[in-house]
Amino acid sequence: MALIDLLRHAKEIEGRRILSLFDDPGRAGEFSVRACDMLLDYSKTNIDAEARAMLLELAEEAGLAARRAAMFSGAKINETEGRAVLHTALRNVDGGPVSVDGVDVMPGVRATLERMAAFAEAVRAGTIHAPGGGIYSDIVNIGIGGSDLGPAMAVQALAPYHDGPRCHFVSNVDGAQVRDVLTGLNPASTLVIVASKTFTTVETMTNAGTARDWIAAKTGAEMAGGHFVALSSNLEKTAAFGISPERVFGFEDWVGGRYSVWGPIGLSLMLAVGPQKFDEFLSGGAAMDAHFREAETTGNMPLMLALVGLWHNQVLGHATRAVLPYEQRLARLPAYLQQLEMESNGKRVSMDGTDLGLHSGPVVWGEPGTNGQHAFYQLIHQGTRVVPCEFMVAREGHEPDLAHQHRLLTANCLAQSEALLRGRTLDEAKTLLAGRFEGAELERQARHRVFPGNRPSVTLVYDKLTPKVLGQIVALYEHRVFVEGVILGINSFDQWGVELGKELALALEPVLAGKESAEGKDGSTRQLVEYLSRGR
Ligand code: F6P
Repeated sequence: MALIDLLRHAKEIEGRRILSLFDDPGRAGEFSVRACDMLLDYSKTNIDAEARAMLLELAEEAGLAARRAAMFSGAKINETEGRAVLHTALRNVDGGPVSVDGVDVMPGVRATLERMAAFAEAVRAGTIHAPGGGIYSDIVNIGIGGSDLGPAMAVQALAPYHDGPRCHFVSNVDGAQVRDVLTGLNPASTLVIVASKTFTTVETMTNAGTARDWIAAKTGAEMAGGHFVALSSNLEKTAAFGISPERVFGFEDWVGGRYSVWGPIGLSLMLAVGPQKFDEFLSGGAAMDAHFREAETTGNMPLMLALVGLWHNQVLGHATRAVLPYEQRLARLPAYLQQLEMESNGKRVSMDGTDLGLHSGPVVWGEPGTNGQHAFYQLIHQGTRVVPCEFMVAREGHEPDLAHQHRLLTANCLAQSEALLRGRTLDEAKTLLAGRFEGAELERQARHRVFPGNRPSVTLVYDKLTPKVLGQIVALYEHRVFVEGVILGINSFDQWGVELGKELALALEPVLAGKESAEGKDGSTRQLVEYLSRGR
């Protein structure tokens, strides 16, 4: 019901300039949320009080409050896989019990965290060292998807806090990546983390095999196992790989891959910044959880962020969203969010298997500002399609001696959202060019310099990219995805859409090796196989 009303309302306000909403002097404050150490300003969108009320109604109609309570309580809300969804338990370290099937999972969560912390401290101090005696100078995390993107993003984000071994990441099955990462490292002082929930992912297991051969060539096969750690829930497979149980950090099936940075999958982060800073990261996530559970309607940041997204995608039909962190250390955040949002909400059927009847979540993409400004912002400002933008910037950088650069960065961030909002009219463009051109040429030149404006954006300002604030940001986005999934009526916690390609790749590998024929494949695939196999 609320959706139909929203579509009607959107039609009614078509053509209204967002800028005109600022005739109300209270607009900015009223269309913003403050929570934890952050301010979310969504006043530069065409959402008015009426639209917002309908969006909130949409969430209520979808039963958001009950669904949220179900998630936090350990109910099996991942219905296609029959699993609870409890990544929030991983950061509930100071909280109460959380039960799955009547069993409190928190003692297990705390025990694993303590084992991780003891291991990380010992590696950082050199008391756990390479079998040959040397300290581990370098960590190579081998994993893909959620077993890579979370820790890779967080390790880069928290660079100012690194005081442990250097961390490197290998994800792609492309041998170029593992070769480039290992070249220049010393096998004798390298610790390899094989991060895979299932311990069956082809890319990860292939790269792990390559790394084992690389180490064994230097240390001998019997010593190689001592250079490995596994982060996995599949203890049988980790043992078969030759990793001893005390070097395995496990987690339960209620932690989804793309939600797993808070537990063992975050070990590389813990090694880089130490257990105390890792705890601060968890506490940031827990603070956002508390906010998400307790804050009411317009005061709830993840809820409002999700509703703004729904307004742009499902109501106004803008199919993509740009995530634009003005923070170079968040360079991997857009990639992280691509998995979080698109693997979670890129679904075409609802929980009960019927057609969605709505668009799934948007295409999420982005790059840090200011780099993006010199690349794709042209299209965002003057292209024919509207791309809602999500700007992010810190109040304070980590480089006090370069405060003038942070000011310039911030000015750019604010300038972009202002430019998107205001635009530039033909008359303004003509005034700019007066004296240089006249007549028809003035008109022609001016038209190229017109900015339509009225393009929506939100801005998230956080205090400083500390471990705690990073935890708040990541949890904010997780809950935003959750809200969107509930309103769309889909399961945000499975990922069947990745399976078909995996199966076909397994079948094509022997074809490319010349062991099987391409018969039965379509003409294009046969041609590509033939071209790729020429001369072999
Ligand atoms: O292919 C999708 C996926 O299952 C992701 O959901 C997951 O994060 C990734 O693969 C890696 O899986 P694993 O940790 O089991 O290796």
